[in-house]
Amino acid sequence: MVIQIEHATFRQGGRNLLNDVSWRISPGEHWALLGLNGSGKTTLLNLINGYYWPTEGSIEVLGHQFGDVDLRELRKEIGWVSTSLQEKLYPSDRTQYVVISGKHATIGLYDDITEEDLSLARSLMDTLGCSHLWDRELRSCSQGEKQKLLIARALMAKPRILILDEPCNGLDLFSRDKLLASIKTLADSPEAPTLIYVTHHTEEILPAFSHVLLIRDGTVIRSGKNEDVLTTEVLSEFYEAPVTVEKHGERVYVRTTDSMV
Ligand SMILES: Nc1ncnc2c1ncn2[C@@H]1O[C@H](COP(=O)(O)OP(=O)(O)OP(=O)(O)O)[C@@H](O)[C@H]1O
Ligand SMILES: [Mg+2]
Repeated sequence: MVIQIEHATFRQGGRNLLNDVSWRISPGEHWALLGLNGSGKTTLLNLINGYYWPTEGSIEVLGHQFGDVDLRELRKEIGWVSTSLQEKLYPSDRTQYVVISGKHATIGLYDDITEEDLSLARSLMDTLGCSHLWDRELRSCSQGEKQKLLIARALMAKPRILILDEPCNGLDLFSRDKLLASIKTLADSPEAPTLIYVTHHTEEILPAFSHVLLIRDGTVIRSGKNEDVLTTEVLSEFYEAPVTVEKHGERVYVRTTDSMV
């Protein structure tokens, strides 16, 4: 198992932020985590990274039972890309160095760069479709381009799990499609880490994400195969509102019914 969470509850401030969450991720699966604002997605990711400790239940990541493992070592196997990371990077840094800095998860320290580092950075930027940004200043890159660089940066450490926490936040329609195309290429590559894609929007959940977990108010409402979860029936129950699921090509769109508007 890549991740095995059994009956995890996380209580904070007299409130259960997560209730009896069980989630198993097997090798070869890529998962999407779908939930509204405040449903507990980031809290769950914090549990997987060992930043929060479950009040009840058990967590095993990459075969290591929490309690018996050095979390700092384990975290090196887990990449986590979120937009808040963008603000921590130096705007005047060159793109390839930003990518290479992911090797040791440092910011702004570019000592001892080897030929191998440069070549891995180039190949990762190729996979993400952003090799044309090589040697540009980070500040000259658009939001979507920066997201691609951050994903390449996370891959530089060769993680076995890569968490993408709302990577399309703040992107326009076309930048979003470009980023999703890059993520598809990554997901389809044989050496891809296990991907966990966090989002509010079903249309971002590409078929490469074989499984989906639905979370509401800290409770898992449903988890399973993409095509079994992203249906009108399941999502209406999940949102507690009548919605209609429409599939266009590879994408799944959710429409609220007119009566709600
Ligand atoms: N340390 C904490 N102490 C108390 N409450 C917290 C703490 N961390 C998160 N929460 C609360 O837990 C709930 C879930 O938060 P979380 O950040 O996990 O949601 P989310 O699903 O990631 O939402 P979003 O889509 O907006 O990012 C929220 O109501 C939040 O206010
Ligand atoms: Mg969140």
